Amino acid sequence: MKGKKLIAVAAGAVMAFTLAACSGSGAGDDSSADATTSAAPAESNGGDAAMEKGTIGVAMPTQTSERWIADGDAVKAGLEAEGYTVDLQFAGDDIPTQSQQIDSMITNGSQLLIVAAIDGTALSGQLEAAAAAGIPVIAYDRLIRDSANVDYYVTFDNYKVGVQQATSLLVGLGVLNADGSEGDAEGPFNIELFAGSLDDNNAHFFYSGAIDTLQPYIDSGVLVVPSGQTDIEQVATLRWAQETAQKRMEDLLTSSYSSEKVQGVLSPYDGISRGILTALSNAGYGPTIADGMPVVTGQDAEIASVKLINDDVQYATIFKDTRKLAAQAVAASLEFLAGATPEANDTTTYDNGVKVVPSYLLDSDIVYKDNITSLLVDSGYWTADEVASGVAE
Ligand code: BGC
Repeated sequence: MKGKKLIAVAAGAVMAFTLAACSGSGAGDDSSADATTSAAPAESNGGDAAMEKGTIGVAMPTQTSERWIADGDAVKAGLEAEGYTVDLQFAGDDIPTQSQQIDSMITNGSQLLIVAAIDGTALSGQLEAAAAAGIPVIAYDRLIRDSANVDYYVTFDNYKVGVQQATSLLVGLGVLNADGSEGDAEGPFNIELFAGSLDDNNAHFFYSGAIDTLQPYIDSGVLVVPSGQTDIEQVATLRWAQETAQKRMEDLLTSSYSSEKVQGVLSPYDGISRGILTALSNAGYGPTIADGMPVVTGQDAEIASVKLINDDVQYATIFKDTRKLAAQAVAASLEFLAGATPEANDTTTYDNGVKVVPSYLLDSDIVYKDNITSLLVDSGYWTADEVASGVAE
């Protein structure tokens, strides 16, 4: 997969043979170097065609998760192929940095903004300025809330992603079969629940989809949550940070598992999953699922986690093809820039607190060990070598 060089070294470190070695910062190095730009000024980068067509601002949250690097690169390449100059910026998961980056995009004359927000509620001022300057705004993957000035939203069916995460947990435990039919296992199974960052609208959709799927089994006693922590506020993970998740898993093991074993963990994102797996490994679980590592879910099909799935350590992840998301963002941008309105396939779900934002939702898939090749390798998302090494080339 292209655009992964930056994180390859860190991902390799994460994939050091023992999980105990990967107590670091996830798929990438969470350093201040994350707040970067790959933009070049229009006058030096665009040539005549780009000068005529103008610049598009693309604001991405962070480079610590490899998907955002791939997203940014794919959007940039798609728009450049259409003759635009792209001001692509990553904000190091720092809210003021992202606000400043977007302010600069507006004052520097961007024709359109594509924004994956860090805090979905923090950009109202920027969006007001964009609207005053007649700049269309596309919310990318994450909804921007509390603003009338969001013109369009490209994302996946985020509730369904949560359903898929919970389904993969139930399949891993044997409660369901992979085809969705009831499995043989009756439990009771001890599970713990994790959610993403509360300031990310997606975290709420993922968790709703997951808990709606799990609740009937909790109610019937097939699933037990020994910590008792099931409210999203109790299980959330600020900024989706791997270390935060590792610490919470360690605390849960200490507080709720003196004699019992945990058998499943709902995790909303692969970086969080690796933190959870590290805590479990350090506590003597595993090394593989067959050895007693709990069933741990994920999201994003990050290469380090795909290798862990291939190695029977992590049970599943959710594949959201970011190439398709980027292509949809580019297509919608071109429509806006031509003065047209891009097609929406959902005009009811994403109420941002001020209005329902016309949205385009894409589909996602559950990745298990036995469909890594068909979903990820055959589609060219990762190569077989990358899956084997756990490192993006
Ligand atoms: C995205 C997920 C990602 C998470 C952490 C969410 O908004 O939809 O794909 O795992 O952020 O970066």
